[in-house]
Amino acid sequence: MNYSLIVKGNAFYTSSRSQLEFLADSLFFIDFEGKIVNISQPSDKEYSQQLALAKQQKVFVELKNGQYLIPGLVDLHIHAPQWPQAGRALDKPLEDWLQTYTFPLEARFSDLDYATTVYENLVSHLLANGTTTGLYFASIHKEASFRLAEICAKKGQRGLVGKVVMDDPIMNPDFYRDASTESALADTESFIQDVQALHKTTKQGVYPVVTPRFIPSCTDEALHGLGKLAKKYDVHIQSHCSESDWEHHYVKERFNQNDAHALHSFQLLGDKAVMAHCNHLAHEDALLFQQTGTGIAHCPISNAYFANAVFPLAEFANDYHLDIGLGTDISGGFSPSLFENIRQAVMASRYLDEGVDPKKTAAERGAKESKISIIQAFFHATAGGGQALSLPIGKFEKNYAWDALVIDTQDVGNPMPFFESNIAPEEILESMLYLIQATNIQKVWVQGELVHQKGV
Ligand code: GUN
Ligand code: FE
Repeated sequence: MNYSLIVKGNAFYTSSRSQLEFLADSLFFIDFEGKIVNISQPSDKEYSQQLALAKQQKVFVELKNGQYLIPGLVDLHIHAPQWPQAGRALDKPLEDWLQTYTFPLEARFSDLDYATTVYENLVSHLLANGTTTGLYFASIHKEASFRLAEICAKKGQRGLVGKVVMDDPIMNPDFYRDASTESALADTESFIQDVQALHKTTKQGVYPVVTPRFIPSCTDEALHGLGKLAKKYDVHIQSHCSESDWEHHYVKERFNQNDAHALHSFQLLGDKAVMAHCNHLAHEDALLFQQTGTGIAHCPISNAYFANAVFPLAEFANDYHLDIGLGTDISGGFSPSLFENIRQAVMASRYLDEGVDPKKTAAERGAKESKISIIQAFFHATAGGGQALSLPIGKFEKNYAWDALVIDTQDVGNPMPFFESNIAPEEILESMLYLIQATNIQKVWVQGELVHQKGV
């Protein structure tokens, strides 16, 4: 059999939330569709023969000492047009931040040249930071949103892109909203068709996403129409759900329901739906997510600014088995790096577990059983994100896409402190997850294609 790529190296991935796998010196065989078709380990009978044959092939890549493979990262929540304001105005509450900073910035994406400049820069930057799949909110503009999908297609990133719908004339400013409910729905439908046509020209896939910004920005008619479009075209859906006190209470007032049930009444939950944040989900909301297979994009850095609470990740994963991935939420989250969010997910879970108010006694202070490990956070950033999107990504297993990063732990820009030769693999991974910077990311493959190489 011919392969498009054969890689040999030490690899880490999680086969489940509780199971870390370490494949030492293994051979990964990738077909011409970019899928893993075989994995060979030194304990396998045919390994030495396969290795000898592999070494003769032009497509053979062997990792060096100190380099490790991990699956490409899946960022489940990115606002692409907010990239120019990363790190700004985060001292404002969500509703002010949106009206004063974010909507005026997003309105600028009516200018296709500006959109192209920003989106080219962002997609390259995300790839260099190890994000191989991105679930994006673009802006309300159909053309600029399509440009983002084209840029993902061209640069080889697996992009899932939504034209944002904001049609309510009371809740949205005149300078930034859909012209009408009808045009919002018509633009969404033609955007879906255009991206589905583009998808066919790509190896890794680009996907259209039905994207009501959040309930406060949409009329009932738009929400209803978007649910119908999602069903008609069987496409992904994304929105914000129960993010902050203000947003959660607004929805409760309007529908006498929480976001989850309101979204469900418009057919906006399901296996291909990913809802951002979900910090304030009640028990019945979590059950509804479980029954409908709806995924969650947990954005721990953004939550520190806008959520008014810590997302109970351990509870939703352990007690409800929800599909949970991680998101940067650029620019509610300032960092484009999902590694930074892996770290923050762990730290936030510790604050939730132990509590934060020193004036309370230890017994009163925290919500016990809330801690997660860095390896569990790694699961959510890879396989968990893949499950939330219902795509075969995030694991090194047969029939999964070859989306992979080569991490060089001894890169001169950030050599990791591995002084002993007998460090356990799990400990190496823990250090890597806490210490990786973009400089350590040597190579990035998506669907078997090399899409980023450091220094090139
Ligand atoms: N809710 C509605 N829009 C947004 C947004 O752009 N960022 C965040 N964090 N929450 C939102
Ligand atoms: Fe967001």
